[in-house]
Amino acid sequence: MKILVVGGGGREHALVWKILQSPKVEEVICAPGNGGIMEMVDCEPVAADDIDGLLNLALSRSIDLTVIGPEAPLTAGIVDVFQEKGLRIFGPTKKAAAIEGSKIFAKKLMKKYGIPTAEFESFTDPKDAFEYLKTHGAPIVVKADGLAAGKGSIVCKTDKEAHDAVLTIMEDRAFGSAGDGIVIEECLTGEEASIFVLTDGNDFLALPPSQDHKPLNDGDTGPNTGGMGAYAPAPIIDDKLTYTINTTIIKPAIDAMRNEGIPYTGLLYAGLMMTAEGPKVIEFNCRFGDPETQAVVPLIENDLVELLEATMDGTIKNYSIKILPMYSVCVVAASGGYPGKYEKGKEIFGIDDIYISQNKNIFHSGTIIKEGRLYTNGGRVLCMNAVNTDLRWAIEQAYSLIESVDFQNMYYRTDIGKKGLARLYNIR
Ligand code: AMP
Ligand code: GLY
Repeated sequence: MKILVVGGGGREHALVWKILQSPKVEEVICAPGNGGIMEMVDCEPVAADDIDGLLNLALSRSIDLTVIGPEAPLTAGIVDVFQEKGLRIFGPTKKAAAIEGSKIFAKKLMKKYGIPTAEFESFTDPKDAFEYLKTHGAPIVVKADGLAAGKGSIVCKTDKEAHDAVLTIMEDRAFGSAGDGIVIEECLTGEEASIFVLTDGNDFLALPPSQDHKPLNDGDTGPNTGGMGAYAPAPIIDDKLTYTINTTIIKPAIDAMRNEGIPYTGLLYAGLMMTAEGPKVIEFNCRFGDPETQAVVPLIENDLVELLEATMDGTIKNYSIKILPMYSVCVVAASGGYPGKYEKGKEIFGIDDIYISQNKNIFHSGTIIKEGRLYTNGGRVLCMNAVNTDLRWAIEQAYSLIESVDFQNMYYRTDIGKKGLARLYNIR
């Protein structure tokens, strides 16, 4: 088979790495890829949101299966376009991708089907939103309805912040038309977890639960980022919680979509808060998460291509997931300044001297190769991954990888996986 992977982040590097291990695969192509992916497979300079360009690429290169990384092409309808041309593509249709593309849609769906989530109200007129805030004070969360590159959810500690958040989204239009509507919701407290399931619209297969580290700095402080590291399996999700999540959130969500006439196929990502009242949904995403994928994928023993095909063929119930009995940790090396302004084009040193194995990987995010040298090309630059039977060792090995590389103003969190250590060994 020839497979096209769309995207150019650490998530796509991990997917390409895993897909290449499938005996079914003859060739993998990535668009647009990055400096690390380029060393493994052919990369084509077509942007991830250029649907026509990707369609032409898939047709001209006789691609058998296209796998989409980021949300933007999915919510813009790439799956519908490819399917109309008879091409196989992994991911939800445009209507089904609205589970991520419109927070108002997702929240209303959850309310209608009794899926636990924060109490909320949605608005399309800022006047109504300001009125609502008079009776619903901080802490409170204001969210742009549409996609906002991970910046559209504002957790407000004061009433003024909440007022300003509505202004920013609806009047200053900081996220453009994504702010035509907003959700204002109750602020939940607890630990977060990311649940990935592969679903064919009827049945699902859960991948190991993981935990992202969204805030920039240690101790979960500072501004939110795309994610500064992740580990899996996250011990907070024990068997009992897995059962609760599957029966009160995942299955009802899949059934709800089917019942609404928009069956969901692909990877469904539930971002959850483990509250005192049980797990509640913060958001659904219509794709693999980044950086959780870089932690989760190395634990999967199955042929990933077989599983992707089963979600498209409606046969996922015939499969069971085989997971290495190990822990996987990934730590992100970011450019200084990220998630605000940062510089690109800094040379990256030390990578060639690192010995890479099945249990030790460097997944690239924002990197580029120029004249044989590797440079930074984004906010999140590299993702160091280590797999070990002991979470403590996996963490130590991921950090020893990061200490072996260097670029100007490199920044990383030093506490990735600490919540897992606290739970397993009471190490704080
Ligand atoms: P989202 O854009 O929905 O992924 O939210 C980004 C981050 O904001 C989440 O990972 C949480 O840390 C935080 N967040 C979103 N919604 C809530 C909520 N209702 N209560 C508390 N924190 C939230
Ligand atoms: N790690 C968060 C996301 O992929 O949205």
